[in-house]
Amino acid sequence: MAEETLTITDNRTGLRYEVRIRDGAIAATDLQKIVSDGPGSGLLSYDPAFLNTASCRSAITFIDGERSILRYRGYPVEELAERSTFLEVAYLLIHGELPDPTQHRVWVDAITHHTLLHENIKKLIDGFHHDAHPMGILVGTVGALSTFYPDAKDIFNVESRRLQILRLIAKMPTLAAFAARHAIGMPYAYPDNDLSYAGNFLNMMWKATELKYEPNPVLERALDVLLILHADHEQNLSTNVMRAVGSSHADPFSATAAAAAALYGPLHGGANEQVLRMLKEVGSVSRVPDYVKRVRAGEMRLMGFGHRIYKNYDPRAEIIKKVADDVLAVTGRSPLLDIALELERVALADDYFIKHRLYPNVDFYSGIIYSAIGFPVEMFPVLFAIGRAPGWLAQWQEGLLDPEQKIARPRQVYTGPAERHLPAVRQPAVAR
Ligand code: CMC
Repeated sequence: MAEETLTITDNRTGLRYEVRIRDGAIAATDLQKIVSDGPGSGLLSYDPAFLNTASCRSAITFIDGERSILRYRGYPVEELAERSTFLEVAYLLIHGELPDPTQHRVWVDAITHHTLLHENIKKLIDGFHHDAHPMGILVGTVGALSTFYPDAKDIFNVESRRLQILRLIAKMPTLAAFAARHAIGMPYAYPDNDLSYAGNFLNMMWKATELKYEPNPVLERALDVLLILHADHEQNLSTNVMRAVGSSHADPFSATAAAAAALYGPLHGGANEQVLRMLKEVGSVSRVPDYVKRVRAGEMRLMGFGHRIYKNYDPRAEIIKKVADDVLAVTGRSPLLDIALELERVALADDYFIKHRLYPNVDFYSGIIYSAIGFPVEMFPVLFAIGRAPGWLAQWQEGLLDPEQKIARPRQVYTGPAERHLPAVRQPAVAR
C-alpha cells in the first residue's frame, strides 16, 4: 500500500517536507515546520469559513454530501424518522446506542420529570417586551438557567453532566412554549406528564381552558419526526459554537445559549422563518418564474435552497415533503405548499440552480408544516433549537472528553499596518 504521507516542496526555500496523512487529513500544526524566515514564520492554513478544515474527530453523525447520506451513530436518518422517536434519538446521540426498554423508561421518565421551570424564569419572561422574538427569549432564558444550576459548572463530573443534559432537553420546550404564550398574552400552560415529548409541547403551546389537552396524533408524530430530522448535523455553525464555548469549560447552559444565538441567523436556523416570509411575498404560483428570475439576477437568495455540504439533495427535505402530506391531510391544503412546489420545480430546471448545485434543504418545507400545525413564523427557529439540543449536548460532551481538544483559538493572517509610533509629544483626542 502507498505510504500515507504528503510530500511538500516549499518553492520559497527549495526544501521538501513529509507530512503524515491520517484518516484523510493532515494536521494543520504539521505545516508549522515549513518555515521561510526562522522561528514563528511557520506556514498557516487559511480557511475563513472552515470550508475544508476538520475541527474535531467525532463518532456522532456521518454526512456524505455528494451521496446525500445522513446517519446518526451509524443509523440512516430515514430509518430513524420512520421507526424511532425523538427521545430515543436523543438518547442515541448522547449515549452512542439506542436505549433498551429499561434504559428507555428511565430516560423518558427523567426527562418528563425535569420539564418544570423555576418560577423566577416566568418573571424573567414577563420582563420581555410583548413583541419580543421568542428566539431572543429562548437565548436569554436558557443562558439564565445557568444561574439557577450552579452545579452545572462541574463539567468533568459525569453525574452532573447527565443531570444538565436531562434538564436542558426537558426544559427547552417549556421555555419555548412560555416564550410563545408571552407574545399573545396567554397564561403559561404547565407541562403534562401524561403526554409524549412532542404531545406535551403542543399542550404547552395551545392548552386553553380544557381540563386535559389532547394532541392530534398525526400532528404530534409529525412534530416528533421534524425534531428527529433536526437532532444533529455534525459540525454546523451552532454546533461549532457549542463546542467552541464548551472548550473554555463554560457550563452547558451558557454554551447552549451561544449555540442557540448562532442558530438564530437567517443563513442557519432562521432560514425556515425566511422561507415562509418568502413564500408569502411570492404570493401566487403565477409569480414564481418572475421571483426566480430576480434570484438569478442576484437580488436575493432563494431561502431554503442550497447547502454547504449537500450538493445533490438534502435527505431531510425528502422526508419532510412526505410529512407535509400527512399534516396537510389533517389541517387542509396550504396555498403556500403549491407555491413551494412550483418554486422547487422552476428552480430545479433553471441553469443557475443546476450550475450552483442548489436544492431544497431541510428548511424549505419544514416551515409549511409548522405553519399548518399553527406555529407562528417566529417560532420556527425555536423549534429547530429544541430539535438540535440533543445534538449540541452530545457534541459538547464529546469535545469535552476528547484528549486532543483544547480551548478553540484560531490563528489569523494579519493585514493591518506595520509597526508605527505616536509622536513623542501628543495630547489625547478629546471628544467635543
Ligand atoms: N439562492 C441563490 N443563490 C444561492 C443560494 C440561494 N439559496 N445559495 C447559494 N447561492 C449561490 C451564491 O450566490 C454563490 O453564487 P456565486 O458563486 O455565483 O457567487 C454560490 O451559490 C455559493 O454560495 P455560498 O454562499 O458560497 O455557499 P455556502 O456553502 O457558503 O452557503 C448556504 C450555504 C446554506 C448558507 C446558502 O446556500 C444559503 O444562503 N442558502 C439560503 C439560506 C438557507 O436556506 N439556509 C438554511 C441552510 S440548511 C439548515 C441549516 O443548516 O441551518
